[in-house]
Amino acid sequence: MTYSLRVNGEDHIVSDSWIGESLLFVLRGRLGLPGSKNACEQGECGSCSVVVDDKLVCSCLMLAASCIGREIKTVEAIANNGRDGTESLTDIQQAFVQAGAVQCGFCTPGFVVAINHLLNENPRPTELEVREAMSGNLCRCTGYGRILDAVAQVVTERTR
Ligand code: FES
Ligand code: FES
Repeated sequence: MTYSLRVNGEDHIVSDSWIGESLLFVLRGRLGLPGSKNACEQGECGSCSVVVDDKLVCSCLMLAASCIGREIKTVEAIANNGRDGTESLTDIQQAFVQAGAVQCGFCTPGFVVAINHLLNENPRPTELEVREAMSGNLCRCTGYGRILDAVAQVVTERTR
């Protein structure tokens, strides 16, 4: 089947697609957007997190074809950080780097998408709310403390 998906404010044609393809597969394999990571493909780790119609979802669990007519936002929309050679990290991404919240980095795009989504909806979350918002994202490396530090740093800076 051939259809159009709206991703990061642009329409993309997906052609010769099987109806059962996941949104994660289509983003990475067909649209050349590798920021969303594939770690478990079972909805367990959050590394594939994207926003569809203002809802945070695991793109590995959604059929791409079910997103026709919906607004999809991936980590690539959060900052233009390298595809054209420019660097324009957001404050969230900068805070991750500064706090040492990026180690292997595989989980990082999913966390950035989840935290960006949280702070858009709730600019002053409590630590409990941050923990709850991150509860669908797994990190094997950091122990989460540095990620919490990064979020606290962003909230402090934004509400100064
Ligand atoms: S790859 Fe989607 S939740 Fe792990
Ligand atoms: S930094 Fe390695 S999994 Fe999170």
